[in-house]
Amino acid sequence: MTGRLVVLASGSGSNLQALIDAVAEDRLQAEISAVYVNRRSAYARKRADDAGITQDFVPMRPYLDAASDDRTGREAYDRDLAQRIATHEPDVVVLAGWMHIFTNAFLRGVDAKVINLHPALPGEFPGAHAIDDAWRAHLDDGLDRTGAMVHLVPDEGLDDGPVVVSGEVPILVDDTRDSLEARIHELEYQLLVDAVASLVPS
Ligand code: GRF
Repeated sequence: MTGRLVVLASGSGSNLQALIDAVAEDRLQAEISAVYVNRRSAYARKRADDAGITQDFVPMRPYLDAASDDRTGREAYDRDLAQRIATHEPDVVVLAGWMHIFTNAFLRGVDAKVINLHPALPGEFPGAHAIDDAWRAHLDDGLDRTGAMVHLVPDEGLDDGPVVVSGEVPILVDDTRDSLEARIHELEYQLLVDAVASLVPS
């Protein structure tokens, strides 16, 4: 049996590409059923197109505009997106740079494991600027390692949940912020493939 994945991305999609490559090279026994993005210009769309994977842009703005308040709009968006995802009957939904915190309306609507990739060690530097925050802690306080993790998303917590895999990245004396970021991303590609492999049915 091959595990079915739906990948949600909103940026470059280099982690999506890591999954596409791992599937193509038979390092991952899974099928990427669909990709959803929440930014029209997300390069992840081109990566999906090039790999022959169905992709769709689902913007949140119309839901926010139609709702009485932000929370209601986010919940309506999350419910609709969950319904679209459910049509693919995924085993795992992968948040790979989705950059939006789901409400429980999403989690209730998806009958799959939901995992999130975050460029920091468990419990450290939650939020959208984890690499900048680690670099700042290195400059200010001599932080000498950071890392990356994949965790389950059980609730509305930010970059928090049971850890599936994690790994450390040393901060080297001759590192720049960019060289550190590049090594974190290399680790993320590996961790994401490992995490998915451990969660899909075999
Ligand atoms: C990754 O660093 C991921 O950990 C974070 O967003 C980034 C997405 O990068 N949540 P990409 O779009 O996969 O290149």
